[in-house]
Amino acid sequence: MTIRILAIETSCDETAAAVLEDGRALLASTVASQMEMHARFGGVYPEVASRQHVLSITPVIEQTLADAHLTLGDVDAIAVTRGPGLAGSLVVGMNAAKGLVLGSGRPLVGVNHLEGHLYSAWVHDAKDEAPPEPQFPIMALLVSGGHSELNLMTDHLQYQRLGGTLDDAAGEAFDKVARMLGLPYPGGPSIQKAALNGDPTSFKFPRSWLGKSYDFSFSGLKTAVLREVRKLEKEGTLPVANLAAGFQAAVVDVVFTKTIKAAREYGAKEILVAGGVSANTAIREAFMGQDEFPVNIPKLSLCTDNAAMIAAAGHQRFVHGQIDSLDLDVRPTWPLSQI
Ligand code: KG4
Ligand code: ZN
Repeated sequence: MTIRILAIETSCDETAAAVLEDGRALLASTVASQMEMHARFGGVYPEVASRQHVLSITPVIEQTLADAHLTLGDVDAIAVTRGPGLAGSLVVGMNAAKGLVLGSGRPLVGVNHLEGHLYSAWVHDAKDEAPPEPQFPIMALLVSGGHSELNLMTDHLQYQRLGGTLDDAAGEAFDKVARMLGLPYPGGPSIQKAALNGDPTSFKFPRSWLGKSYDFSFSGLKTAVLREVRKLEKEGTLPVANLAAGFQAAVVDVVFTKTIKAAREYGAKEILVAGGVSANTAIREAFMGQDEFPVNIPKLSLCTDNAAMIAAAGHQRFVHGQIDSLDLDVRPTWPLSQI
């Protein structure tokens, strides 16, 4: 029997909906980005984000169902991002999902956004043949704007947390360093673009290895870039491309090396890299450049926030028996270790 999940994602600054079949085949996906609006402020303004979700959510859901040539009656469950994320933004998606549940009688499934990022590796376009499923145990590196962590995924929905960031998330570090260099929001793509013309070895920025631990720390690196920027500004020129390339190389070096080391230590069959920062070309090249482990990195449209990944995680939750009640609340802070 075919199972179709309609999913809604509004945890930050993308209003998104998607329909997924049998946990993998993507029938339709819509992402309305607020990026341009937030770029004017240099970051996401929570209240502006919530109000924009209110405006976009219904058209985004309608568009998604139309693209899938389906009606609400054709879906088996409604999945929605419950957290982590901005409270006011999450509430818009949650209430929209509850409205659909009330209108259709279909079950509600609350999904953790971080689990969603990991499940982006299972999604493929419905018109393409299904690639092989990721094989457990999987060493999963999650690098997004709000989180950076390493988890061993031993089975569906089973995570063993090996480490996480002690300060900034990788994406947050990209965003903050971009601001220091006068590059536009969001910082990740701006740094990547600037780094294209830079020499990654011209600045030797520090790598925080933190001994044998699988934790990350990016604040020392961020401070080192800031110190260099202040010094160079006094001297009159800012070699933005070299600074961006040096910073990017330091982040890639640490996340890549720790992930490979953990994959070896825990006997992983595959590596999975997910979250907004996995869109970074230098990170993708580092992982694709080794052949010790097969690597799953979602295609670019599935790296940054989307609802296809929420549908994929929601599918697993649903087939494992999760059905939430209509008094389900959002969870703005919700580590993967607590689901
Ligand atoms: O997963 P995501 O869309 O949202 C969160 O769940 O946080 O991740 C957003 C983060 C931002 O910090 C953004 O700068 C970063 O992902 N990002 C990138 C790239 N594209 C997005 N970082 C580095 N290189 C990129 N190409
Ligand atoms: Zn995300």
